[in-house]
Amino acid sequence: MLELLDRDAAGRLCSLTVGKKKIKTPEIAVVVNPNIKTLKIDDVIGAKPNLLITNAYIINRNSQTISDIKTSGGLHNYFKWPGLIYTDSGTFQQFSHSTESSEWTQELSIKTQMELGSEIITPLDRFVLLTDTKSEARKKVLETAERLGKARSLVGERFLVGPIQGGKFTDLRRLSCKLTVKEQPDLFAIGGIVPLMEQYRFAELADIIITCKQNLPVGKPVHAFGAGHPMLFSLLAAIGCDLFDSAMYSLAARRSAFLTVSGTLPVSELSELPCSCKVCSGITALELKSLEKQELENMLTIHNLNITLAEIKTVREAIRGKWLWELVQQRCRAHPALLEALRFVLKTHGKWLLNFEPVSKKSAFQWLGEESDWRPEVLRAQDWLHRVCGKSFIKPPFGKIPVGLKTVYPFGQSLIPGFSEPRVKTKPNEVLSATLNYQFGSGSDKRFKKAEIEVSRNTGRIRRIWRGKELLGTMRPSDGFFIPTIAGAELLKGKIKSYAVKDKEVAELIAAGKDLISKFAIPKDKIFAGEQISIKYGKRIVAVGEALLTSSEVREFKRGIAANLRNSAKNTGF
Ligand code: GUN
Ligand code: ZN
Repeated sequence: MLELLDRDAAGRLCSLTVGKKKIKTPEIAVVVNPNIKTLKIDDVIGAKPNLLITNAYIINRNSQTISDIKTSGGLHNYFKWPGLIYTDSGTFQQFSHSTESSEWTQELSIKTQMELGSEIITPLDRFVLLTDTKSEARKKVLETAERLGKARSLVGERFLVGPIQGGKFTDLRRLSCKLTVKEQPDLFAIGGIVPLMEQYRFAELADIIITCKQNLPVGKPVHAFGAGHPMLFSLLAAIGCDLFDSAMYSLAARRSAFLTVSGTLPVSELSELPCSCKVCSGITALELKSLEKQELENMLTIHNLNITLAEIKTVREAIRGKWLWELVQQRCRAHPALLEALRFVLKTHGKWLLNFEPVSKKSAFQWLGEESDWRPEVLRAQDWLHRVCGKSFIKPPFGKIPVGLKTVYPFGQSLIPGFSEPRVKTKPNEVLSATLNYQFGSGSDKRFKKAEIEVSRNTGRIRRIWRGKELLGTMRPSDGFFIPTIAGAELLKGKIKSYAVKDKEVAELIAAGKDLISKFAIPKDKIFAGEQISIKYGKRIVAVGEALLTSSEVREFKRGIAANLRNSAKNTGF
């Protein structure tokens, strides 16, 4: 079960519940291979991962390993780790060892995963190669879906993965999504993408992921199978991936490679270690390079893992702080193939991105390169600017901005190199009028003709809007947005968007100050995240607040809050 807690770009910070365990996403599932005895699992666990993934096929191939795991009572006891454990079926290993053995069946794979005590079980999907013909690819898509259909009865209540195949064929990806959705797995995993990542074909990778995201329900987690290089996490999270998995940290270490968030460095070329993780702060580059091979590999493995885990935390922080696009831009500037992918995503899928983009952010829009011009914040601003007229000034990349919006997000909260803010004088009524029309559509300002504006003596900025003794709303200093009270929302009826509630008891709870839970919210309009909305019971507004979930998401998230409510009707005798 997935609950959305925070968001930015098309990315989301969620709480994912599997059985009795919870993790935060985006998260990286750290690949562990119990056959490899040279690296102590304790060292991996010492880096504090939140999710481990291992492989039934690999374990089963080694009779000693599987017998040891079963004797100890399963993977959790064997690893001495109580956290969440995910198992893959062996599809990818069969692909990389080019053997689709007839003995390794889906039944055997799932039976092994169950016996090992895995909590997230993967069917034996069929890996579509980039070189497969369309008819081969189609056959594999159909077989993958058929195997998923058979898997449910084998896994019972356990979390079941729905693998998506289809290779580079967009229409087959769509078909794969459609067939997979029908089987109602608990999470979706986009497969067959490792060859694209190995070849740095990131634009094609992003296109496939977005195609899948467009055809999957928003209320379930999406895993990018085999995405493990930390330089990719921010971009993939920004287009809606919730889970990654990585053996990259150990594969890179085996070939003496040092991972950074912007690429991979051969250790042989390092004179200093550009990192202060536990490993790197205890050793110099020279000492590291003089270690015998196995010890070098072990040290590098843990450094690579530390970097990988740190980047996933950075991505989560970027979502909370609403600077995910800025992070993506920084990361994508590290390699032309990443920059190409980012440009492609913004230019080709801008309209789709707008569905998720919050309407306001607590951090400023920072222009960090030409691709900033195509960011969804710019598209939204240009779209909404049509609602407002009046005397204007020009600020790139937004264009002509009415002076009344000078301090409104993103115009007032944007850092554009080479641009100095013009000295424009504005009257309070100009600001209120432009802001209302910008947020709620043209003509909204007419409803406030008789309102009185309270201006701060210190800053000269609007603080509150009154009608007689009744407060209609405030202007939020951080983004200049108008934040209505219930009375303000009443005035904006027909303009302000709303969620409705059907049950009287729910309406009473909301009127008493409780938050609006997703499963009780009925969208009445197309609502974007961050919009100021009203909550209606019949014709009555019982509360006002800020949407966390979009109207499309509310229909699918069974758990969590749809809107943070601020002002309820408890004092108005509901
Ligand atoms: N790991 C990396 N790619 C894949 C894939 O396509 N399917 C499965 N099951 N695991 C993978
Ligand atoms: Zn390090």
